[in-house]
Amino acid sequence: MSEQNPEIHKGLAGVVVDTTAISSVNPATNSLLYRGYPVQELAAKCSFEEVAYLLWHGELPGDDDLEAFEAQERAQRSLPPNVRRAIDDIPTSAHPMDVLRTAVSVIGADDEHGEFGALENPFEVVYPKALRLMAQLPAIVAYDQRRRHGLELVEAHDDLDFASNFLYMTFGEIADPAVVDAFRVSLILYAEHSFNASTFTARAIASTLSDAYSAVTGAIGALKGPLHGGANEAVMVAFEEIGSADRAEAWLDDALAHKRKIMGFGHRVYKNGDSRVPTMEASLKRLVEHYDRKDVLDLYTALEQAMDARKGIRPNLDYPSGPVYNLMGFDTATFTPIFAAARVTGWTAHVIEQLTSNALIRPLSQYDGPAERHL
Ligand code: COA
Repeated sequence: MSEQNPEIHKGLAGVVVDTTAISSVNPATNSLLYRGYPVQELAAKCSFEEVAYLLWHGELPGDDDLEAFEAQERAQRSLPPNVRRAIDDIPTSAHPMDVLRTAVSVIGADDEHGEFGALENPFEVVYPKALRLMAQLPAIVAYDQRRRHGLELVEAHDDLDFASNFLYMTFGEIADPAVVDAFRVSLILYAEHSFNASTFTARAIASTLSDAYSAVTGAIGALKGPLHGGANEAVMVAFEEIGSADRAEAWLDDALAHKRKIMGFGHRVYKNGDSRVPTMEASLKRLVEHYDRKDVLDLYTALEQAMDARKGIRPNLDYPSGPVYNLMGFDTATFTPIFAAARVTGWTAHVIEQLTSNALIRPLSQYDGPAERHL
């Protein structure tokens, strides 16, 4: 690559910018490993807490480690009063991701150990903040959905695990085990995915030696977009537009004729199907039975088959997770905040890793504006 004629990688496609020991995505074998463990196995056998611990510590917890970890997480679940006041000041016309972004900023501004600078031991400084964010994000997401329906805050239930408590704080009742299980699986599948746009944003912010809350706030902004996390919401909007399975093909033809991107399909890395989809789809099928909503599965299958026939493009994780969250009773606009509440574990693991072996992230660009000119 010469300075005159640099090779340009638009969207950083195909560029390897660093090493990571947190997760690996191998599109050729359709595998996603968190610290070496296939995500499907983690989803089958672990709690979300165990997976969060794994992402941060590099190993699954032993029984005593898990007990201590769970106690720390449960002790920090309540929504701090100043965060609640900040949320109450935001109009309900704002997107819930804007609410989440603001709430994380308030939590960060309140942390007296907010500064990074050069850190001798990044884990020691960032880990308590990461755990605090993991514990508090469900309270923010749940309360925001409730206040939009004129409902009161539900206090955290310390006897419940992370996934059950998240549902409890949102809906005010203890969820059926089938629902908790599908939710737990979705959180695990959303927890981490290497150098995606929001994680890269978090790493870029951390690389300036800013603070963890700034990194997470920036990552939330990146996740909001429909080409990234916002796709799970967009899937549901499409389902609502289509209405029923028999209208899926006609809707798709019209959307493609208008050059619309079909949300929940395609992936920058996986070109032959997203490795997380079969696991989430199995949970969707169980939920469809639980709620007796075969119509949802019919529409899901009809659009997937039509997209395969027209474009040969396979669904990504957002495709099954959209209807999963809808069946559970989450508002469509709450889907991406749930994704963020899970991904905050991955983001912060990456912040720690970035700081442990930091290089300021600062790519080059090729100038193609006017040649030098003078006033
Ligand atoms: N709907 C319609 N066409 C799609 C498509 C989709 N969801 N995803 C890809 N394509 C088409 C593109 O139009 C392009 O066709 P062309 O070569 O005729 O122009 C081709 O497939 C390659 O797509 P491209 O956008 O270059 O792939 P990418 O790797 O840059 O983009 C995504 C990946 C995820 C941004 C893209 O697939 C997309 O926009 N998907 C919808 C949003 C979504 O679900 N995001 C969540 C990702 S986990």
